[in-house]
Amino acid sequence: EAIEKGGYEHFMLKEINEQPRSIADCMRGRLDAKNGRLVLGGLRDYLNKFQNAERIIITACGTSWHAGLVAEYLFEEFARIPVEVEYASEFRYRNPVISEKDFVIAISQSGETADTLAAIELAKSKGATIFGVCNVVGSSIARATHAGSYTHAGPEIGVASTKAFTAQISVLAMMALKLGYQRGTISEARYMHLLAELETIPSKVERALKLNDKIKEIAWEYKDSRNFLYLGRGYNFPVALEGALKLKEISYIHAEGYPAAEMKHGPIALIDQEMPVVFIATKDSSYEKVVSNIQEVKARKGRIIAVVTEGDTTVKHMADHTIEIPETEEAFVPLLSVIPLQQLSYHIAVMRGCNVDQPRNLAKSVTVE
Ligand code: AGP
Repeated sequence: EAIEKGGYEHFMLKEINEQPRSIADCMRGRLDAKNGRLVLGGLRDYLNKFQNAERIIITACGTSWHAGLVAEYLFEEFARIPVEVEYASEFRYRNPVISEKDFVIAISQSGETADTLAAIELAKSKGATIFGVCNVVGSSIARATHAGSYTHAGPEIGVASTKAFTAQISVLAMMALKLGYQRGTISEARYMHLLAELETIPSKVERALKLNDKIKEIAWEYKDSRNFLYLGRGYNFPVALEGALKLKEISYIHAEGYPAAEMKHGPIALIDQEMPVVFIATKDSSYEKVVSNIQEVKARKGRIIAVVTEGDTTVKHMADHTIEIPETEEAFVPLLSVIPLQQLSYHIAVMRGCNVDQPRNLAKSVTVE
């Protein structure tokens, strides 16, 4: 096992640190920005169907569902097709309206999640086309779908999903760009620019990972907190959910992720000097609004940990701690902003003496209802 951990103390830490490579592996042979090429083998025969779909339905559970939520923003922004993101466990029992004009994307690291598998069977029985985004080659979900793209992140052993999440987003981003280009909903110039930017992500993740020591210090300060709030907007809203899930599952600290603007509709009542609030406040279209949410938390003496874009000075003056990540296109920010949140939950869990790789009550894949 020590050999498999490759010198790391835990699989989770190894997998967090593998992300520059796993994202590059996921894009290898598919993305060639210089020549404007983007090829997803599994999509070839279904591109027409995908392009003409009236609606995209994404179904998944847990972290994979969070990747699906990021994809909702990606597909709607680039391809202008309406998207619905469904918890597989709800979707399968809701008697949902599905037709042959729907393109269903099922996302699963393990490819064995019972609820996701059942959601696929239901959509299939209604005539929809099902596309799988799985990590495990030959898994049940990979076999049950009409077509799919593997995430190629390599085996993920830690129960808390890390590198599978960023690989899922990478595949979904490539799908959204391809679809947008085919449909003419993004210009050639923008398409070329986005491909080039996507190619820089592995090296930017590498840079983001270097913040580990700083995050460890922050973890030490907050390891005994009983609650955490994670807030983000737009593309960073799913990241807030993911950050909270990571903390909950491995450190057993109660954490909630919320869209930052929803804070005033309830969670703001929780804020006092005991409440750490993690803001994902990168320089994007909702930056100014998130900054005013930070002010609101500060006025109520909440402790602020903010993930910001490199060079940010505004938030630095307001937050108790800032974590600076490299700048990128707004649509790709989740691939970078989730990294410090993974590290934060990891360090807090280790400091609390938790079993990071195998947290209590959880299994790597949930193959029963
Ligand atoms: C992630 O950290 C969780 N352990 C869990 O939410 C997981 O993402 C979920 O069970 C879905 O698994 P899958 O991707 O293998 O289908």
